[in-house]
Amino acid sequence: MNADILNLLRDPAGVPFYPVVFQGLYILTWALHALFVFLSLGSLGLSLYGTYKQKSDETWKFLTPHLLQTGKVSVSLLIVLGVAPLLFTQVIYDPNWYTINTLSGLWVVIFIYTLLIGYSMYYWYYYANKKGATSTKLIGIISFLLLLFAGLLMHIFSVQAIQPEKWLEWYAPNGIIDTSGLTFNPETFRYLFFISLSIPAVGLFLQNYSDFLENTKNANKKFLIKIKNFGTKIASSGFLLSLILFLIWSLEIGKATDFFSSLIILFGFLLIFTTIKLKNSYLTSILFLVFLLVISGFREYLRFNIMNNLGYNIYEYPLNIEWSSISMFILTFISLGAVGVTFIATIAWKVGKNDGYFDASKDKVVTLLANSVLWILSSWCIVYFAWGFYILFKNSL
Ligand code: HEM
Repeated sequence: MNADILNLLRDPAGVPFYPVVFQGLYILTWALHALFVFLSLGSLGLSLYGTYKQKSDETWKFLTPHLLQTGKVSVSLLIVLGVAPLLFTQVIYDPNWYTINTLSGLWVVIFIYTLLIGYSMYYWYYYANKKGATSTKLIGIISFLLLLFAGLLMHIFSVQAIQPEKWLEWYAPNGIIDTSGLTFNPETFRYLFFISLSIPAVGLFLQNYSDFLENTKNANKKFLIKIKNFGTKIASSGFLLSLILFLIWSLEIGKATDFFSSLIILFGFLLIFTTIKLKNSYLTSILFLVFLLVISGFREYLRFNIMNNLGYNIYEYPLNIEWSSISMFILTFISLGAVGVTFIATIAWKVGKNDGYFDASKDKVVTLLANSVLWILSSWCIVYFAWGFYILFKNSL
């Protein structure tokens, strides 16, 4: 593969800020995307088991709707949080991303419909379970399989994008051009490793769920202990399975003895230990997030090295700093993003702690946060449009 071609495919306008910043943001936001991918698949998967058990078992009758709700919210979060790494990839690795969107173009379209139908069916599953419909399980299984398939498609886009030496062969196998847009080359163990992380994710969720409800008024201690122990079993065995799959994948790509791989394995064992031994499961969940950041870093480390060895170095991307868009981004991130997320998280926490009923108008902190979000959002809209129109007219008139 000739690096000149890759470099020619870059955006001639250059990047609006230092590439290392986009790289860091990519690692951070992909880890967050992954967190909700794993939580949604894990809780949806476990809820399917719950739908079988809930008729005869009180624990599952209580837990299943909560798992369903958690998965439902997580899918929307994984979609929102998926957009961010997508944008950062497009900024610094645009030759890779757009080539794959051409080679697997039809799969890209199929991805959108898979997600659309899969998520819509999730809502159907949710309401069918509420009503106790007999079709619940089947609808849930189809939704689960569709979301798994959406993940498989995301996976093939990711792995094909880092194999530029094969692009020509995929584009014209045996010299005959293939314009079907159906290039599909998965890396089985990489995919299985990522998906397997859904198991410990839901295990840790159950531990958090139990710790969270422990201090509420109507807490049923026996039930909560049962859930926590169950969560511990799922999380620890899930981590072990993920580590085995990671080892196989890293052996396959010749990275088993790499520093990063050793770090992931050691971290995995640390998580098994904390899952079993630590009383405060929130700490284990924070460690899990750090673990995902390390894994996200590993993905980027693989991609950076592959591309750098081919002569494509993101740090040499032409730079065209645009202070206006950078300051708008940072201001939005800090003002609207931070205050907005704190507001939503605080209110959700307080509703949960008050057994599902919470009068927000009587809470000082929530009221202050709500008013701040309103003011910030209103000012943000004015600044955004005023600034946008100023730039538009400055350039076009
Ligand atoms: C249920 C739906 C989804 C699932 C299960 C899923 C799962 C995954 C998985 C497993 C990966 C890692 C693949 C690998 O490295 O081998 C991934 C990567 C990624 N996903 Fe998702 N995803 C979903 C939806 C989305 C959506 C809707 C977006 C964007 C709006 C998105 C954006 C991304 C991006 C940008 C990457 C990284 C691509 C790269 O590095 O080249 N995903 N996803």
